[in-house]
Amino acid sequence: MSAPAESTSPEKQESGVANPYLKYQGDSNAADSAPRHQRIQLSSDRSKEPQSVLGKRPSTAAGSASQSSKHQQREKFHPNVYGNYKAYYSSRRDKGQKDDPRMNVLDSSLITDKTVLDIGCNSGNLTIVLAMKYKPAHVVGIDIDPNLIHSARTHLKLAYSLRNPDSDEVDLDIGFKYHYFPHSMSTMFGFLPTLPARSSPKGFPYNVEFKADDWLKTPTEKETYDTILALSITKWIHLHNGDEGMKEFFHKAYQSLKPGGIFVVEPQAYESYARRRRDSEHIKAMYDSIKFLPDQFKDFLLNDVHFASYEIAGDSENEQNGMAWFLLLFWLNAYSNCS
Ligand SMILES: C[S@@+](CC[C@H](N)C(=O)[O-])C[C@H]1O[C@@H](n2cnc3c(N)ncnc32)[C@H](O)[C@@H]1O
Repeated sequence: MSAPAESTSPEKQESGVANPYLKYQGDSNAADSAPRHQRIQLSSDRSKEPQSVLGKRPSTAAGSASQSSKHQQREKFHPNVYGNYKAYYSSRRDKGQKDDPRMNVLDSSLITDKTVLDIGCNSGNLTIVLAMKYKPAHVVGIDIDPNLIHSARTHLKLAYSLRNPDSDEVDLDIGFKYHYFPHSMSTMFGFLPTLPARSSPKGFPYNVEFKADDWLKTPTEKETYDTILALSITKWIHLHNGDEGMKEFFHKAYQSLKPGGIFVVEPQAYESYARRRRDSEHIKAMYDSIKFLPDQFKDFLLNDVHFASYEIAGDSENEQNGMAWFLLLFWLNAYSNCS
């Protein structure tokens, strides 16, 4: 990927020049005048009373014997154990709000003509809408749950079949509720046929690919992507793989980016981890072992992984489950990603 033009480099954004990659222009140096998400304490000093929306560590009393036997019963299977919720996007979608609010923060320049990886793409709705709206050169959505990837591939054919073929306007919302043709067209006549791969067709839907795999365990595709999205997935990586797995995830993202690439993370609050600790014995053990807290991610990504700079983006008006959400954007140095 070509590096951002000099006048728009991340280093300059840190010094106050507006960032063209963001629709919401944050100023990570502003203090009290900043919106709430930018007053977050991202300090790694755990002796301080945590104030971060990323969460403080609740007290963890040792589990009782009865709790332990309940864990064993649930050990084998929990349907949402990886955050692999079905109907994730229709439940996420606010009433009357067509798009995922995160799309209002992610500027098209992060995606358009770029090679993009969406880690933990779930049923692909956001990946597909981003692909239709922002036209990446290629976007890969990967998810650990093969059933969700099956849905994502079906959604891709559906999105292609429902769109207005004569317009560049995207009339498909994140819940696939708004669209040009009615669903009944696809139900009655099937999906629109696509061109054979051998003809190397370009554009939507040919620029979207879905893969079923545990991304952490896949071979690292070095310097492959311009933009990597890791939205609402850190909790699941952390709870299944512990602190070491979480750190490996960040290093792997860095290595997978081309020089000048951008890593977009939407970290989940530590408080939200506790709700999942009874999902399995393994998760409980991981949860109890966690010392690397989400409010330390930013410093780790800058100091240990060696991303060159970062920016916080989000909207303090948007809340989910009573917590403000925000995105962290990390820029890789334009010259090299050797760590
Ligand atoms: C809460 S959903 C978030 C979906 C999407 N990223 C978004 O924010 O709109 C988390 C997704 O990550 C997937 N996931 C969890 N661990 C994964 C892993 N190791 N590799 C790939 N996908 C994973 C889950 O199956 C689930 O679909």
